[in-house]
Amino acid sequence: MERRERVLQNGGMTAPALPLIALDGPSGVGKSTTAKRVAARLGWQYLDTGAMYRAAALAVHRSGIALEDRAALEVLLAGLDLTQNAGRMYLAGEDVSDAIRSPEITLLVTPVSADARVREVLVDQQRRIGNLGRWVVDGRDIGTVVFTRACCKVFLTASPEARARRRFLELEAKGQTPDFDAVLADLNRRDLADSTRAASPLCKAEDATELDSSDLSLDEVVDWVVAKHLAHP
Ligand code: DC
Repeated sequence: MERRERVLQNGGMTAPALPLIALDGPSGVGKSTTAKRVAARLGWQYLDTGAMYRAAALAVHRSGIALEDRAALEVLLAGLDLTQNAGRMYLAGEDVSDAIRSPEITLLVTPVSADARVREVLVDQQRRIGNLGRWVVDGRDIGTVVFTRACCKVFLTASPEARARRRFLELEAKGQTPDFDAVLADLNRRDLADSTRAASPLCKAEDATELDSSDLSLDEVVDWVVAKHLAHP
């Protein structure tokens, strides 16, 4: 597909829009599944930035360093080797896709992703990966910080109860016996942490379109994002 660029007016300056879909929103809203499906429909690549923060948290966990030890953190960040391929997350070549979803790492990723220096390093890596466009990127700050020139910005929401219900069913499908109230409490904890942190808190970009997916199927959300993109490629 031919690379299409349009021009954004930006305070009198013109900057070419990047052919990239920025998909932001709170935990458990279905961003990754949506982003993967949208990317497949467009023939674009998919970048899961949450998985990058989780892999960084796993690296911190394994190294045993405290985030307060800034010198040790710098060394760790300088050697942080993160790659994604075919939906899998690799840390120094090791497939850590399952390890980064453990409850321990899900707790630790909150302070790690709130660290301004960690964010600086990961945002830099994300920009280097996506700078030529034709990516669907999901996260919390993609439209507001990482790719402000993205041609299509979507802020996906759903009520905490709808998100907890989906997560509950996902865990049941994996053979687990989740407790609904615990799943909901964990989502509320992460919403609060993500939206109140000082460094790049979760918020909708001014030029993003919000979609409340509480009563929509995955197919409907994917169709909506693809249609929005195709209307203003
Ligand atoms: O999307 P997720 O739950 O896998 O994200 C893991 C954590 O990383 C979550 O606590 C929010 C954080 N995150 C972030 O701060 N910025 C991003 N661009 C993506 C994720």
